[in-house]
Amino acid sequence: MILEACASNIKFAANSLLAGELVGLPTETVYGLAANALDAEAVQRIFELKGRPTHNPLIVHIADFASIRSVANIPAQGPIADWLEKLKVFWPGPLSVVLPKSERIPDNVTAGSNSVAVRIPDHPVALELLVSCKLPLAAPSANKSNYISPTSAAHVLEEFGEKLACILDGGKCNVGLESTVLSLIHQQPTLLRPGAISKEQLSRALGVEIFEYKSQNAENAKVLLSPGMLSKHYSPHTPLILAGDLKNAASLSGKRAGYISFNQRSPLISPERFTKVSFLSHSGDLNEAARNLFHTLREHDRANLELIVIENCQESGIGNAIMNRVLRALKRDVSFLQQ
Ligand code: TXA
Ligand code: MG
Repeated sequence: MILEACASNIKFAANSLLAGELVGLPTETVYGLAANALDAEAVQRIFELKGRPTHNPLIVHIADFASIRSVANIPAQGPIADWLEKLKVFWPGPLSVVLPKSERIPDNVTAGSNSVAVRIPDHPVALELLVSCKLPLAAPSANKSNYISPTSAAHVLEEFGEKLACILDGGKCNVGLESTVLSLIHQQPTLLRPGAISKEQLSRALGVEIFEYKSQNAENAKVLLSPGMLSKHYSPHTPLILAGDLKNAASLSGKRAGYISFNQRSPLISPERFTKVSFLSHSGDLNEAARNLFHTLREHDRANLELIVIENCQESGIGNAIMNRVLRALKRDVSFLQQ
């Protein structure tokens, strides 16, 4: 059930969380599937409903900076405390930070690891709910494991129907991509997932280089720092390929294909050949494109197409996060195009 996010419905959602139920939570990045992070049984239901492997840990959401110490064990002095202080400027906002975990956090939240990812979301409804329930909330993106993250309340309803206590309607997500994940538990701050807060911004704020495993190489890395780095992340059911891989138009003949362009003014391929065409931005604005990406992928996936073709965008700033998600959603084997 989707509920308007008025004060009484937020109170209802808070009481549901306190009673161990799950709530669809709007944030500025994507919608979350929230449970009381201190209730191992409620957290267990998140894994069951999502079909999420239990080795993939969840992000804990809190209302303010002062609450970090209630979910993480921050040494009074040293690099972690210093870095955290410098990262304050990004909160509330689309940044999750991996820290040493507090004993209060049940093991299933962190998939048995002794670190916890924490974030303060920049959405008035999420913040009101966090204040109202006075709980840290464990919330992964509110999609079935391996499908596209939701950026509206309607997407969450599509995923979980009536299985949640409620879905608070916070409108369309303003960022549209999942948060940047930065680990502070290594010698050097380490980027685990690119997002709207870029590696360059983090590096400037911290005054140090940020280490990064390229997600494409993560499966070969000796130590997998974050299970979410596995290169195949989520994808539409319909095969998704890059415009650059569509070597000749003949391979499209007779096929119902969708086309997703970054720029209405200058699409890379002539759109006439496609059954369904969408533009992520009017003018090539990558923030607008990020906001529209997941919704557009879902729309194309519902349009009874045989394939979806998407353009590349420039891989800098938020473009880096966009291409990270696009590359992980692609169908690698494009031999079906020759058939
Ligand atoms: O924007 C977001 O982060 C959204 C909204 C709802 O806040 N949440 C989200 O959660 O994207 P999820 O579960 O879909 O992605 C969490 C990512 C995964 O890649 C997970 O592996 C990583 O964070 N993660 C969580 N805890 C971690 C930890 N202790 N160490 C390393 N990686 C961790
Ligand atoms: Mg997710």
